[in-house]
Amino acid sequence: MCSSEELEYPQKLLDYQCGFLVSKTMFTACELGVFDLLHEVQEPIAATTIASRLSTSVDGMERLLDACVGLKLLKVELKNNEGHYSNTDVSTLYLVKSSPKTLYHMITYYSQTTYKLWHFLPEAIREGKSQYERGFGISSKEVFEAIYRSEEEMLKFLYHMDTIWTICGKDIIQAFDLSVFCSVYDLGGCTGGLAKHFVSTYNETTVTIMDLPSVVQTAKKKFVTDEEQRIHFLEGA
Ligand SMILES: C[S@@+](CC[C@H](N)C(=O)[O-])C[C@H]1O[C@@H](n2cnc3c(N)ncnc32)[C@H](O)[C@@H]1O
Repeated sequence: MCSSEELEYPQKLLDYQCGFLVSKTMFTACELGVFDLLHEVQEPIAATTIASRLSTSVDGMERLLDACVGLKLLKVELKNNEGHYSNTDVSTLYLVKSSPKTLYHMITYYSQTTYKLWHFLPEAIREGKSQYERGFGISSKEVFEAIYRSEEEMLKFLYHMDTIWTICGKDIIQAFDLSVFCSVYDLGGCTGGLAKHFVSTYNETTVTIMDLPSVVQTAKKKFVTDEEQRIHFLEGA
């Protein structure tokens, strides 16, 4: 049932309509390195300095920074009548690339890949297929061939997948008592995000990550350390 306020003023619909503007503002500030620069300098700085350090127009940067202030991603204070910008605590923790809890890789994946593909959502619904061909010129029927279209793209996807486990992995693994399972097989286990939470929560458990050979090789090299001895890998397709 709709409330009378909703019928009087379609706030929810207006929010839905503009949602992509909010997303793209945060994506852009992340991609341009605004949060990283403000973290590096460790003091509030003016838009002109930020624009110069990040090689952007001053006008564009000022608008972006003010939009970020409106979204509570940045703080601003006046010094000599000029706005000086700094990160909020949340931005420092989640939007600075070097933070252990960073969402940077997920955000840039959403911006550069997901956002582009969702532009073709009407076509995807009409045709009932993914839109990698329209978005990226990849005609493969197998979606992971398109996602892993180059080594660089595969790595971006793996970092994107890994990110969410740093945020909610502990809650997920503790939501159920899984202590009865001593040998766990994670099909499509990717970077081992789940596996790491499994072995750190359950001392007796070993986890075998089953994934495509190129993913397993990269996960071994970049994501799972030798200390995580109870994590094993199995290549397959
Ligand atoms: C959406 S990702 C999920 C990754 C992981 N489970 C997570 O939650 O972070 C799907 C995973 O399935 C793997 N995959 C895709 N096709 C596969 C296949 N034929 N055999 C094994 N793994 C496959 C991908 O490489 C990728 O790691």
